[in-house]
Amino acid sequence: MEQIKLAQRPLVGTIRQLRPSDLPRFAEHLLRLDDESRRDRFNGLADDAFLRAYAERCFHEGVTVIGYVEGDKVLGAAELHELPEESEPTAEIAFSVERPLQHRGIGGRLFRRLIAQARGLAYSRLQVTTHSDNAAMKALARRFKAKLSFDHGETHGVIELDADGAADAEWGFFLPDAGRNVAKAYAA
Ligand SMILES: CC(C)(COP(=O)(O)OP(=O)(O)OC[C@H]1O[C@@H](n2cnc3c(N)ncnc32)[C@H](O)[C@@H]1OP(=O)(O)O)[C@@H](O)C(=O)NCCC(=O)NCCS
Repeated sequence: MEQIKLAQRPLVGTIRQLRPSDLPRFAEHLLRLDDESRRDRFNGLADDAFLRAYAERCFHEGVTVIGYVEGDKVLGAAELHELPEESEPTAEIAFSVERPLQHRGIGGRLFRRLIAQARGLAYSRLQVTTHSDNAAMKALARRFKAKLSFDHGETHGVIELDADGAADAEWGFFLPDAGRNVAKAYAA
């Protein structure tokens, strides 16, 4: 019942970078992910203890986390993890949206904001990995011009953040809010 209510109501939250004090809210978001979303996000089993430790690690290791936030709740998140071993400035990205709010455009909004943040941090390449059955993540990655490759049940996406803003121009996708349409018009 709660899930139906959540799915029907308008999205009133904001997309913003999470502050250090948001750690408990980020952990609670991860803990609310259902089993399937946890498997999709972490490519395997992720119990509560793992998720609590993971959230702590993110905040203590300087991971950039963008949230979809409603009131005092983080209901979606996009993470930017630096890969310092790569020769070019590169980061691994990952996304999570709670089940009742999935497929309503929040993943796309988080993705766009994450790309802006990655540009601000002068990353030139983003990588995303998910299992090959994850249709939503593959659709999202394609929308942001990721080059996808497939290997042993995993899908790897690479987004080049070249200087002309190519990754910001989504593939002919109609964006639900006015600001996004303006962005698309400029990109055209
Ligand atoms: C993947 C995920 C972040 C997408 O977020 P979202 O808010 O549901 O995505 P959006 O509503 O912005 O939709 C993104 C695209 O996926 C498609 N999509 C969404 N849910 C889908 C589903 N269940 N099956 C197939 N496609 C789906 C949308 O149609 C859209 O495609 P389009 O751009 O071609 O129209 C979200 O589903 C999620 O958190 N899943 C569990 C965790 C996960 O898989 N993380 C990714 C691994 S890093």
